[in-house]
Amino acid sequence: MSTIAITGGTPLGGAVRVSGSKNGSLPLLAASLLIDGEVIFKNIPEIADVTTMIEMLKALGAQVTHDTGDGLRIDASNINSVSAPYDLVRRMRGSFYVAGPLLARFGEAQVPLPGGCVIGTRPVDFHIRGFKALGATVEEKYGVMHAEAKKLHGARIYMDPRLRSVGATVNIMLSGALAEGVTVIENASREPEVVDCQRFLTACGADIRGIGTTTLEIHGVSKLHGCEWTAISDRMEAGTFLIAGAMTGGDITLDPVDPEHMQMVFDMLQQVGCEITAEGTRVSLKMDQRANAVDIMTAPYPGYPTDLQPSTGALMAGARGTSVIEETIFDARFNYVDELIRMGADVRVMEGAAIFKGVPQLYAAPVVATDIRAGAALILAGLVAEGTTEISGAELVGRGYVDIIGKLSELGADIESIAQTDQEDM
Ligand code: UD1
Repeated sequence: MSTIAITGGTPLGGAVRVSGSKNGSLPLLAASLLIDGEVIFKNIPEIADVTTMIEMLKALGAQVTHDTGDGLRIDASNINSVSAPYDLVRRMRGSFYVAGPLLARFGEAQVPLPGGCVIGTRPVDFHIRGFKALGATVEEKYGVMHAEAKKLHGARIYMDPRLRSVGATVNIMLSGALAEGVTVIENASREPEVVDCQRFLTACGADIRGIGTTTLEIHGVSKLHGCEWTAISDRMEAGTFLIAGAMTGGDITLDPVDPEHMQMVFDMLQQVGCEITAEGTRVSLKMDQRANAVDIMTAPYPGYPTDLQPSTGALMAGARGTSVIEETIFDARFNYVDELIRMGADVRVMEGAAIFKGVPQLYAAPVVATDIRAGAALILAGLVAEGTTEISGAELVGRGYVDIIGKLSELGADIESIAQTDQEDM
């Protein structure tokens, strides 16, 4: 386990380079399994979750090579296994993305069920229902999903409109790309990361209509070819840094950011009192007052992102006034709140919502990161707390953020990694 120490009180200032998107890269990497030939990806972030997905692709027989620049070449021409190792699936739920491509291209996929997760119940029933609708026989036994189909056939799949599952949209879309006939996904996710995957598949020869909408029509093709593709930048990383700027009374510039992807976050930041300017892919934030409290409700895109809910909670913990944050996506996503309370926050969690009564000052305390985004929220709290906050379990943050310590240090934060002890994966 690693520990991060942060001494709070410095306003952040300067420029940060935003890395490629974690949630965008994982579907792209899994999609490479559909392709008989080489794909070259650019802007894939160097984070633990990407390493896990690369290990997964290699375990299935793909050739993966890193170019001297930031290119990642994947050749899935010689896949020799349709069985995903449990050790990799248990590290990251995104590994389940390999199920759709394996089933579509090789007629079979054996992927362990990913199981529970600290942010709440995260079943894969929508994915499995989709595979069945496309004609696969699916058996779940001994903790493994075994799906088989000589050939998948297009079908109309209706997903829960309240949840618009990101993962199920990706998995069904990847299976439909090589199915016979037309697959329609109703209430598909419109997250920018899903849309980027749709555009990538199209560049590889897939026929997808309704790109970026909630009704996708995927006209199956018999084969996809390779291409070169640059992953979009990470809107969660950008959002986390902007919130850090807002909390510390900072003056920061981020690049590259797609402002289109950030409207709800900009809106929240403007409401709390920040000045935001966007020019092309450069976004700047200035804040010279204590944040005003605002109410937030998470929702599928274009709603407020659940992945930024914990960082937003850290902001509201120190805001002027009372804020209600409603979480509509994951049932246990307030688990960072107890740690914030240890730092002096005044928060009450009710069913699906938390009420933050802003306090003028947070105080350092030893705290534990339980997941990627909870860890990021605690880092932000540490940036404004009086004293030195030690966050253990900080390796979880490295699953989703490229060099967060280095990037925050460059902005003037007093932050360092202080310990590394061997422990089982969490
Ligand atoms: C993805 C993101 C995650 C983000 C989430 C919501 C990746 C790798 N992860 O996770 O960072 O927080 O989207 O934006 O991109 N559900 C079911 N059955 C299913 C699938 C989902 O009930 O088969 C439920 C989930 O429990 C959750 C909701 O649907 O309540 C949305 O989940 P989903 O959009 O699928 O999230 P993930 O793809 O797991």
